[in-house]
Amino acid sequence: MKPYTHEPFTNFTEEANKQAFQQALSYVQSQLGKEYPVVIGGESITTDKKIQSINPANKEEVIGSVSMADQELAEKAMQTALTAFESWKKWKPEHRANILFRAAAMLRRRKHEFSAYLVKEAGKPWKEADADTAEAIDFIEYYGRQMLRIKEGFPVQSRDGEYNQYHYIPLGVGIIISPFNFPLAIMAGTTVAAIVSGNTVLLKPANSTPIVAAKFVELMHEAGLPNGVLNFVPGSGAEIGDYLVDHPKTRFVSFTGSREVGCRINERAAKVHPGQIWIKRVIAEMGGKDTVVVDNDADLDLAAASIVYSAFGFSGQKCSAGSRAVVHQDVYDEVLEKAVALTKTLTLGNPEDLSNYMGPVIDEKSFKKIMSYIEVGKQEGRLMTGGEGDDSQGYFIQPTTFADLDENARLMQEEIFGPVLAFSKARDFDHMMKIANNTDYGLTGALISNNREHIERAREEFHVGNLYFNRTCTGAIVGYQPFGGFNMSGTDSKAGGPDYLLLHMQAKTTSETL
Ligand code: NAD
Ligand code: ALA
Repeated sequence: MKPYTHEPFTNFTEEANKQAFQQALSYVQSQLGKEYPVVIGGESITTDKKIQSINPANKEEVIGSVSMADQELAEKAMQTALTAFESWKKWKPEHRANILFRAAAMLRRRKHEFSAYLVKEAGKPWKEADADTAEAIDFIEYYGRQMLRIKEGFPVQSRDGEYNQYHYIPLGVGIIISPFNFPLAIMAGTTVAAIVSGNTVLLKPANSTPIVAAKFVELMHEAGLPNGVLNFVPGSGAEIGDYLVDHPKTRFVSFTGSREVGCRINERAAKVHPGQIWIKRVIAEMGGKDTVVVDNDADLDLAAASIVYSAFGFSGQKCSAGSRAVVHQDVYDEVLEKAVALTKTLTLGNPEDLSNYMGPVIDEKSFKKIMSYIEVGKQEGRLMTGGEGDDSQGYFIQPTTFADLDENARLMQEEIFGPVLAFSKARDFDHMMKIANNTDYGLTGALISNNREHIERAREEFHVGNLYFNRTCTGAIVGYQPFGGFNMSGTDSKAGGPDYLLLHMQAKTTSETL
């Protein structure tokens, strides 16, 4: 096996790649309007209640509809997963990993098709969709390889006359709850990590992006995953989400999404219900309020580019998005001016058109929330770019920049999850670090600096799970920059890291007297 390297991004300046992607978009166009079932134990179940998936760039266009599971079907899925666990946990780790390797190869071959679904269903521009699919391939490939690495456990000491061993066994049935913003990568990554570790799962995708999840479930079964290991239960978070989190047979919950829902899950999962014989484990990856910090000796063009692309990639709908720029007072005006000029070159429009840098936000609820924050921004700061939205056809919001925010302003503290960037001025490096750490979150951050001492200080003091120097604070790569945050950003796990699978397992010690 060749050493692991991440999936390369597609070069869309090459005509052949452009044409291949355009063909994939045409293919997905021909698939619109289809219905997708709940899948339990390999059985496709169609229900009356459906989630309609809508193109956020064109509200008239239905991507497809997905049957919703109710509590009765959620219970059926749980019983199926419990039964399947009894055999799946006995599969050799390398045989489980082989299914992932095949799935990764299949997804690689169908890369543009899946990316085209992301363009249509999530409103991702081509490059963002391509990166999402590449990350999904990486998660599948990398976790397969990690399972091979940890299958023997870790060496421990043995005294004369004894033989000690230490290895990992799976947990049981897991509930995978995924967000809309990486509807393929995070959904697939959290699912396969649980599965390759020997668990069986119930997957509840985000309600605005269920079709790409349905396609992924099909692919996993085509790759040879036995029935009952991965059960697909789209549905209402409040109805089946709560039901499954509370279920006494749920062994763990792997959640990625907002702080509000993550905290709710953590609280509910802590309660022990009749018939429950374990403490549930919760992996919760939650929000961020991420900062790009600019020092007074920085390369100011690099600073402006890092700020702008961190803030506005995928319309700011990344947990890693740099929604705050904290700039040293000596260079504040110049960096602001450069960032404003660069932002004004960004194009906003239908993501099916490669020339558009930014597409829509995901839905009406997000549109309204972001627009209300823009009103807050107009009170709290000085509007420098954008400030307007248009929801007549899709949910489009201009890249919006506010200057001169107080470090404690709402725009500097609350996760907006849209294309809204706040600039704040700092007196000196101490002040920059203080502002960088002044939110409840701790996910990503970047320092743009040429000062070696400041870089080393930030390495220690800037309290985020992913810290970058002289680049954007988005775009972590599986197996290169394990991803996950501190404080209210989550439970400190690192997706795409060498120890991530262990969160889905429990260690067993055996000691034999010889
Ligand atoms: P969300 O919290 O609204 O939804 C996430 C998932 O939770 C969805 O599948 C939803 O249906 C489900 N859900 C809702 N209520 C539930 C309940 N009561 N019980 C169980 N499940 C329930 O988040 P979103 O809008 O889809 O995603 C955006 C959020 O995700 C942002 O806050 C972002 O920062 C965060 N995020 C974090 C990471 C990370 O790695 N830290 C990565 C991506 C996104
Ligand atoms: N992994 C994604 C990033 O780093 C969230 O931007």
